[in-house]
Amino acid sequence: MSERIAHSGLKNKVMTADEAAQFVNHGDRVGFSGFTGAAYPKALPTAIANRAREAHERGDEYAIDLLTGASTAPDCDGVLAEADALRFRMPYQSDPEMRKKINSGAMQYADIHLSHSGRQATSGVFADIDVAVVEVTRIDEDGNLVPSSGVGNNVEFLDQAKKIIIEVNSWQSLDLEGMADIYRVQPKTPIPITDTGDRIGTTYIDIDTDKVVAVVETDSPDRNSAFTPPSETSEKIAGYFLDFLEGEVAAGRLSYDKFCMQSGVGNVPNAVMAGLLDSKFENIKAYTEVIQDGMLDLIDAGKMSVASATSFSLSPDAAELMNQKADHYRKYIITRPLQVSNHPEVIRRLDLISSNGMIEADIYGNINSTNVTGTRIMNGIGGSGDFTRNALVSTFISPSIAKDGDISAIVPFASHIDHTEHDAMVIITEQGVADLRGLSPRERAPKVISVAHPDYRPLLEEYFEKAQTGKHIHTPHTLSEAFSFHQRFLDTGSMQK
Ligand code: COA
Repeated sequence: MSERIAHSGLKNKVMTADEAAQFVNHGDRVGFSGFTGAAYPKALPTAIANRAREAHERGDEYAIDLLTGASTAPDCDGVLAEADALRFRMPYQSDPEMRKKINSGAMQYADIHLSHSGRQATSGVFADIDVAVVEVTRIDEDGNLVPSSGVGNNVEFLDQAKKIIIEVNSWQSLDLEGMADIYRVQPKTPIPITDTGDRIGTTYIDIDTDKVVAVVETDSPDRNSAFTPPSETSEKIAGYFLDFLEGEVAAGRLSYDKFCMQSGVGNVPNAVMAGLLDSKFENIKAYTEVIQDGMLDLIDAGKMSVASATSFSLSPDAAELMNQKADHYRKYIITRPLQVSNHPEVIRRLDLISSNGMIEADIYGNINSTNVTGTRIMNGIGGSGDFTRNALVSTFISPSIAKDGDISAIVPFASHIDHTEHDAMVIITEQGVADLRGLSPRERAPKVISVAHPDYRPLLEEYFEKAQTGKHIHTPHTLSEAFSFHQRFLDTGSMQK
């Protein structure tokens, strides 16, 4: 392990996680590395959770405010939530235990655009960051940090923090060195990326080593979900997505060569990438948030020339493969700070096609990505707003029903709106494609209803027809019935009956 800590001063700071956790006090604001199950600290969260539990048993208060890049894992967000060790969390989570605590009101959660999170940290919205806890692959002779499987908001947290705790994880491949491209975004200064593969910074994060109070050695895998083969519904949605791309080529708006994509995570995106393997598209580029299994397959098949993201979101099998072949994949993959991977300026410049999941869409194209029935947080907006607002074409992909048909993904009025009708351009379900570009609200509604599940289409048509009998019909609504689907679901357990 010592080969991974080449800086002599920092070697002297090696201690156990329990010892390091003594630097994290009640009321502290703490910035963690970590993004979609990758690169999060593996030892400190449990040590901090234990401190919280012990304090609570003594009758003392102990809770911290936690900032990260995005979601982490059960042994990070999960253990901290379970121990009631958190007062506040931002900017994105997807942990079942944490979700329960947020929805019950036991902790606060600020769900913000990921591209805003690092900037808000540096501009002082969260005031001081007391401690940054960051996982790395290696510390070099000068004390520079070599990122592990993700970068997220690490640069911003390390720059802002009064104290730094570094976890050096020997499970992460040393061959990841060279993959990261570390660049500090400066206000009022253009980011010099004009092509997906441009490298504009260093392969390491330089830090003030005097701020380091502890170095903890770990040997633990990232915790990502196992890959589930695409379902029949996912394959249908992916098929429609690929048909849509073909249509764009036929219309002269897209080329088979060098198409640039952003993709949310999950079953449908993986089915889309599997479909791209057999498509006519070549030299595909990804300017996206996370590297997924399907992208490794596209790289291996010679179909993807470059993938830029802020971290990995790989299944355990793909993560093992990455560890074995990181020296190969780093020729194709760039990991960037979240502020760069999700920066509106760069996204707009690259003319990419975004695709993200959703909870529901309404008949005019407003999208709810975050709150079930408008009140119950699922995960968070993540980077979906960064990409949707700024992509050349923004798409949403989702099954048309959830919970065995008791929930329709198409509703009269979205019960919470993350992406407005002005941002969302195309909605794709297993029923087809609703291309909303260039259409007025009244022209959009029949298109959106056409991709609803057949069981719900008559109800939606009835709503739309009645709404048009009102006095002002630019965006027809009958307000007293706009949430009738949601109310029915709350009353009966089904939006249909
Ligand atoms: N009402 C209630 N539950 C719903 C629902 C709705 N309208 N739509 C979906 N769900 C539930 C599903 O039933 C499923 O529940 P389960 O885990 O208990 O089975 C869960 O939400 C996930 O849905 P699924 O259809 O499997 O899609 P997904 O994994 O793509 O998740 C989102 C959909 C919206 C939750 C997810 O895409 C998300 O969090 N998006 C916001 C962040 C984002 O877009 N990130 C990418 C940006 S880079």
